[in-house]
Amino acid sequence: MKASAIAHPNIALVKYWGKRDARLNLPATDSLSLTLAPLHTHTTVTWRRGGDAFVLNGVEQRPRDVEKVARFLDLVRMLNPELSGAEIVSHNNFPTAAGLASSASAFAALALAATSAAGVTLSPRELSVLARRGSGSAARSIFGGFVRMNAGGEDEEGNDAYAEAIAESNHWDLRVLFALTTTGAKAIPSTRGMNETMRTSPYFSAWCEQVPRAMHDAEKAIAARDFELLAETAEASALQMHASAIAARPGVVYWNGATVELIHAVRTLRTQGLAAFFTIDAGPHVKVFTTAGDAAKVEEALRAQPGVIDVLAAAPGPGAHLTEEHLSPSSQVL
Ligand code: DP6
Repeated sequence: MKASAIAHPNIALVKYWGKRDARLNLPATDSLSLTLAPLHTHTTVTWRRGGDAFVLNGVEQRPRDVEKVARFLDLVRMLNPELSGAEIVSHNNFPTAAGLASSASAFAALALAATSAAGVTLSPRELSVLARRGSGSAARSIFGGFVRMNAGGEDEEGNDAYAEAIAESNHWDLRVLFALTTTGAKAIPSTRGMNETMRTSPYFSAWCEQVPRAMHDAEKAIAARDFELLAETAEASALQMHASAIAARPGVVYWNGATVELIHAVRTLRTQGLAAFFTIDAGPHVKVFTTAGDAAKVEEALRAQPGVIDVLAAAPGPGAHLTEEHLSPSSQVL
């Protein structure tokens, strides 16, 4: 009745921004990402009598946060009606809820640990469908390397909205540098930001219409290891996502001054011959993709940028997996 899992966050090259069904958390469009190590969430789930309890980074979580997790666990309880309450102990080895995709690794690790502890065996595809219910981007973190998320649309229960690996983590030795421009939690959670965009942005439909082309170009770029094409495609996807959000009423603006300076700095690095392109999620940080060969130079340039507080380095990583190591509620940093 106890199992532990590790899952890594992922960063989208073609963004997911908008839902076609809120109850089943079905995405409005396809998306595409790269799963990244060594950043990870480690989660231990123990099924036992009583209510649900959730300890994150050594801190007992507030009822509101326990409720989100409890609602997700209800989906696992439906698979095995003998289950009662669960104790969840999680640890992130990177900042939580700061626009660094912690909900992706969180729900991917939770889906795997909770089903495994319950004696329920799901295929990776089924696990991605389950993880999606917790957070859309979490479906992609079930797989390693380059991952495609299918929006689906035929199946009433949303079982065709699943993720699948399109290239292994060793397919292309890229690096991703997280240029952090602020400390602390993000202002507008991604779920709210995308809901407001869907509801009030005149550019939301335009955003959705360009995703098929972006998916086509990104898959072509990855297959051919074409850095230039991936750079052009990923930057356009990020800017178009943010353009749709900024056009909401009131506008959803995730950027700060340092974010904008970094956009220009990364493009300058590229014109100087370094492999570098940016992407930005629901926060002010800038994620810079580069090659293993250029990573040191690009990192040095990012650290010299005004407003950059720190730089975290990551590389293509594996999918969610079970681990023998169990966390107890008093566990501190691994
Ligand atoms: C900007 O997966 O956090 O990071 O499904 O509402 O939990 P919910 O949203 P979430 O959204 C991620 C948005 C994004 C882009 C992406 O990862 O594709």
